[in-house]
Amino acid sequence: MKLAIDGGTPVRSAPWPSWPPPLSPAQRELVGEVLESGNWGATQGSRCAELAAAFAARSAVSYGTAVGNATLGLFAALRGLGVGPGDEVIVPAYTFVASATSVLLTGATPVIVDVDPVDLHLSVPAVEAAITPRTAAIMPVHLAGSPADMDGLTASAVRHGLAVVEDSAQAHGAAYRGRPVGGLGDAGVFSFQSSKAMTAGEGGMIVCRDEDVHSRIWSVCNLGRRIGGQWYGHPEVGWNLRLTEIQAALLLPWLDRLEEEIARRNAFCVAVERELARLPVLPAAGSGDGGPPVTVVPQPPGTTLDSRHLLMLRVNAPVDREFLLAAMAAEGVPLEGGYPPLGTMAALTDAGARVEPCPSAEAASRTVVWLRQSMLMDDPAGASDVAEALARVLARRG
Ligand SMILES: Cc1ncc(COP(=O)(O)O)c(C=O)c1O
Repeated sequence: MKLAIDGGTPVRSAPWPSWPPPLSPAQRELVGEVLESGNWGATQGSRCAELAAAFAARSAVSYGTAVGNATLGLFAALRGLGVGPGDEVIVPAYTFVASATSVLLTGATPVIVDVDPVDLHLSVPAVEAAITPRTAAIMPVHLAGSPADMDGLTASAVRHGLAVVEDSAQAHGAAYRGRPVGGLGDAGVFSFQSSKAMTAGEGGMIVCRDEDVHSRIWSVCNLGRRIGGQWYGHPEVGWNLRLTEIQAALLLPWLDRLEEEIARRNAFCVAVERELARLPVLPAAGSGDGGPPVTVVPQPPGTTLDSRHLLMLRVNAPVDREFLLAAMAAEGVPLEGGYPPLGTMAALTDAGARVEPCPSAEAASRTVVWLRQSMLMDDPAGASDVAEALARVLARRG
């Protein structure tokens, strides 16, 4: 059969769901209310505070601080926990660049460490091998919506006296061993950027359990003021990192439908896994070993709720990657190529990042592709388009 890239008929011509979904009546009403009130800033209205309280409660902790984005949220959390120049912070090699650049903002050194070869989350043995007397914190990333190995990482942190800042940017609503992510470490940070499960275009949320830590993080985000202190009193150095009331009004009603949307994405992911299992196995010779040509990257042990931000697929069949991405896009099933390993980014190493050996992240950058969140909102019947397009494209392989 002729591939779409060669002029054939694409497997899929129907559009995938768009993201964000259309405004809900509740969002229209709340945003309208905020706009009419004229209280657009967090220091004037109460919606940012309401969102922070709701997020903290959902994370099973007491405190939340709404911020302009998660990059700055991670910075504020680290700084609030006392991380600064001379310190090292361990980050996974397979993540978004902001996990590392937030560390650079504090003046500390990101230490880029390998991920687990199977689930692609921060590897506990690799973390242990990278700890030095300068290590101040570990930043687990709940990649693609599934939680990192928090038991293993927390045990390392406790053993070495390190802070844990959970990069939960992709994991709204996810749970680890029955407990919500974000509230498992010393602080957790969520993103509301356009591609995320809850979005206001931009935005972020920091949650934490300890009152002193919260006060320090709040101060970093509020120009060094104290909670309840004077407007022109700045006992600390801080910045204005606040979210707006308009953004909070977009986000608050989302909390009522987050679970339903996660369940919808989950149904699609389960259907993709089922469809992929039906693809003809690879020939036993050569680089293929007789296994399935494409598999879903498994969730780490301990995942009780994967919020399904992305679906990561490992392509076991030998195929030219550029051809795969171009041919799948032509078939109407666009795939994301995913992250380059952070350690290969000259901007980070030029800025002083330390890079540990990262063979698993390097392998992932060659073999793993993603289905993005908006596609996961499709009817589960659409999963057969994913498998059919992969079968067609891999039959030719480029
Ligand atoms: C893992 C991870 N960390 C941090 C960020 C940064 O979030 P933001 O875009 O809100 O600054 C993102 C979002 O893109 C992310 O995916």
